Amino acid sequence: MNIAVLGAQWGDEGKGKIIDLLTPNFSIVARYQGGHNAGHTVYANGRKFILRLLPSGILHSGVTCVIGNGLVVDPQALFAEIDEIGAAGVDVTGRLAISSKAHLILPYHKELDVLAEAKRGERKIGTTNRGIGPAYEDKIGRRGIRVGDLSDRAPRQMLEDAVRQNVEARNHLIASAHMDWRQVLDELDRVWIRLAPFVTDVSVLLHQAMRDGRRIMFEGAQGTLLDIDHGTYPFVTSSSATSGGICTGLGVGPKTIGAILGVAKAYTTRVGEGPFPSELLDQMGQRLRDGGSEYGSVTGRPRRRGWFDAVALRYAVRINGLDALAITKMDVLDGLESLEICTSYRVDGEPLHDFPSEIGHLARCQPVYERVPGWSAPTAGVRSFDALPAEARAYIATLEQAVGIPVALISTGSDRHDTILRDDAVAATWFALPA
Ligand code: GDP
Ligand code: IMO
Ligand code: MG
Repeated sequence: MNIAVLGAQWGDEGKGKIIDLLTPNFSIVARYQGGHNAGHTVYANGRKFILRLLPSGILHSGVTCVIGNGLVVDPQALFAEIDEIGAAGVDVTGRLAISSKAHLILPYHKELDVLAEAKRGERKIGTTNRGIGPAYEDKIGRRGIRVGDLSDRAPRQMLEDAVRQNVEARNHLIASAHMDWRQVLDELDRVWIRLAPFVTDVSVLLHQAMRDGRRIMFEGAQGTLLDIDHGTYPFVTSSSATSGGICTGLGVGPKTIGAILGVAKAYTTRVGEGPFPSELLDQMGQRLRDGGSEYGSVTGRPRRRGWFDAVALRYAVRINGLDALAITKMDVLDGLESLEICTSYRVDGEPLHDFPSEIGHLARCQPVYERVPGWSAPTAGVRSFDALPAEARAYIATLEQAVGIPVALISTGSDRHDTILRDDAVAATWFALPA
């Protein structure tokens, strides 16, 4: 069975750790959207890796990693990442596949991102300034340049025209800019020399693998609430981070996705702007930032923190069709006297159980909390469910009840091994463990 692992909150849920952990059960790990705005942290062999474009299964030799057509690829960022893990002894030769239909992030996209944010002023999104939004704009605007356009089989004149028109349009937009389109084209020729060996028709590769009985793990970047359609628009990223993006982002049908695991922190964080009903601006928020080292893996910006929001999680279950949850960073809640779980909202004095579809509505939502006891014995590093303090087990049970799906996995530290796989039928399906 193929599975998907994706973010159920606003990103940074700990997807990298979970995907790395599950990778030995799969032959292929395939990213379906986003770009190097992602930062997926994996600790392996005593080292910390932050994966941006490369799928989080890349540290396991023998596993094929796929960059789907749904991604926007900054070639320089990709090469830097390949060099970085190469220096740590991880070789991607022969096991990295990049879709010929993936779009390229070019130097002017980054500048346009910075410029757009400056223009938004107070209404800024707080993007990662990586050129993600502008590259997707060009894709939807049907003027983007795709990886396969660089190949010597693609019509050269079309590439030249596209580069020239794009660069001239951007020179027009930025008064002080005088970028030479020929230089951009020359650079793309150099890019192609290094990129070519990885480029393929990813849909064909995945379907062949499935015919051969090989298992695929689909990897989401960002999270449900950052999805371009279903997230807290306009404070979102520009891609389909929810499970619907898997099909369009890789060229596979919906029936190829056997089960979907949503990753969520035991509390909530978000980087960047936008409404956040359970946000904590007090000492408790500070405590979560310090305890959870809540700083962005890509930009280093402090993440905003809040209590677990079961309303948002129920929404993630509905939008993605989640089968089970992986709850991460349990250990960060160690030592708290009591905890709050946001189980519903109140808006304009009325109770609300469903996540609103409109941003102004969400901004007016007040969290309604259920208070539960904390635990004094640490969960940090605990590796079996029974060894958790009783109150921590009760916390998980309350989350399951509030969200409505089982918690199949609990993470109690950033290390691969600091993980609890629930020893039940769910885990048997997911992780090929004996039931
Ligand atoms: P991703 O983008 O979803 O892959 O998540 P990030 O890597 O951006 O952020 C998650 C952070 O939490 C990383 O620094 C991880 O090493 C760390 N982390 C993951 N799981 C746990 C956990 O269970 N406990 C603690 N303390 N840290 C964790
Ligand atoms: P991973 O995969 C958390 C946020 C940015 C900003 C918004 C738009 O590590 O979970 P963009 O540069 O994408 O146009 O920024 O989305 N954002 C993330 N937040 N985790 C991420 O990725 C994110 N990728 C983008 O902070 O608010
Ligand atoms: Mg991250």
